[in-house]
Amino acid sequence: MRAAVVRKSGGPEAVEVLEVPIPEPGPFEVRIKVAAAALNPADAAVWAGVFKPSAEVEYTGLGLDAAGTVDAVGLGVSLEIGTRVIAFDSAVLRPTKAQAEYLVTDLNSIALAPESMDLTLAATIPLNAMTASLALDHLPLRPRDTVLVTGAAGAVGSYAIELARIRGVRIVAQGRPEDEQFLRDRGATWFVSRDADLSAAVRRFVPAGVDGVLDAAALGAPALAAVRDGGIFVSVRADVVPAAQRGVMVRLTTAGPEGTRLAYLSALAEVGVLTPRVAQILPLAQAAEAHAQLAKGGQRGRIVVVP
Ligand SMILES: NC(=O)c1ccc[n+]([C@@H]2O[C@H](COP(=O)([O-])OP(=O)(O)OC[C@H]3O[C@@H](n4cnc5c(N)ncnc54)[C@H](OP(=O)(O)O)[C@@H]3O)[C@@H](O)[C@H]2O)c1
Repeated sequence: MRAAVVRKSGGPEAVEVLEVPIPEPGPFEVRIKVAAAALNPADAAVWAGVFKPSAEVEYTGLGLDAAGTVDAVGLGVSLEIGTRVIAFDSAVLRPTKAQAEYLVTDLNSIALAPESMDLTLAATIPLNAMTASLALDHLPLRPRDTVLVTGAAGAVGSYAIELARIRGVRIVAQGRPEDEQFLRDRGATWFVSRDADLSAAVRRFVPAGVDGVLDAAALGAPALAAVRDGGIFVSVRADVVPAAQRGVMVRLTTAGPEGTRLAYLSALAEVGVLTPRVAQILPLAQAAEAHAQLAKGGQRGRIVVVP
């Protein structure tokens, strides 16, 4: 099969499409015929060499998000061949991953795809919706409480807005001025521009500071400054965890496989509560170009490759 891999780290041009063996599913694993695989910042960490494979590894696969159909099953799996699924393949540094013709992953990493949804769109759900959902679980918010979401127009941020909305909390969304209407439509109560002083802008709406922040833009201290004394700051990046102060609790989110949560998020997308977005679709053969686009940033929605 063809798979996007990295043999030697560098820029996005380090991404190659190679002919590699088709992986076989082991016990409690499924093989998915990939219809679409989304690109994420975590992929850039692989080609840039931030995540380093051991020296003897010949190549490392790319892609944590896939949508496709079950193609083969391992011992203990009763799913029918052809079942439409989404997958959050969270293990990094494996020889082949989601950006390939086939993906093998375990049962806890998949869920039924939203029934009526195009698989290209569905491929943009797993990693980012899981991260937003897990991050919000760090914020024990009650209806009418206030939460700031930085980078709210991004993939994690926009799912966070939609998931916070169903908890009945009041949301301050930070983004570019051109994102304001999009964010209000998703459920933001207030909008602050990324050009403004964040804490001052937030405190114009919530004078004491918000109860919690989900820092999807990885801003660190400036986002923590917008939280009330004794509130909660949630980071999505291990390298952006500001020191706790004023009794603000600082927490880190790390998304991992959780089939039940993924199934719940898929169901929310099916009924239109979550809005997946595709920025661009490219053939797998152009994976290096897709990753170069990812590196430029500024996309609204995910870039997706199709085998
Ligand atoms: N912990 C985990 O398991 C996990 C999982 C997934 C993602 N992540 C991390 O979560 C973060 C968000 O991921 P994503 O996929 O949502 O990325 P994304 O789609 O690129 O969104 C990031 C958002 O942050 C905004 N932003 C960037 N720099 C900013 C700044 N200085 N001030 C204000 N806004 C800024 C971007 O705005 P523009 O586009 O307008 O520049 C964009 O809207 C990334 O750091 C990613 O690595 C962590």
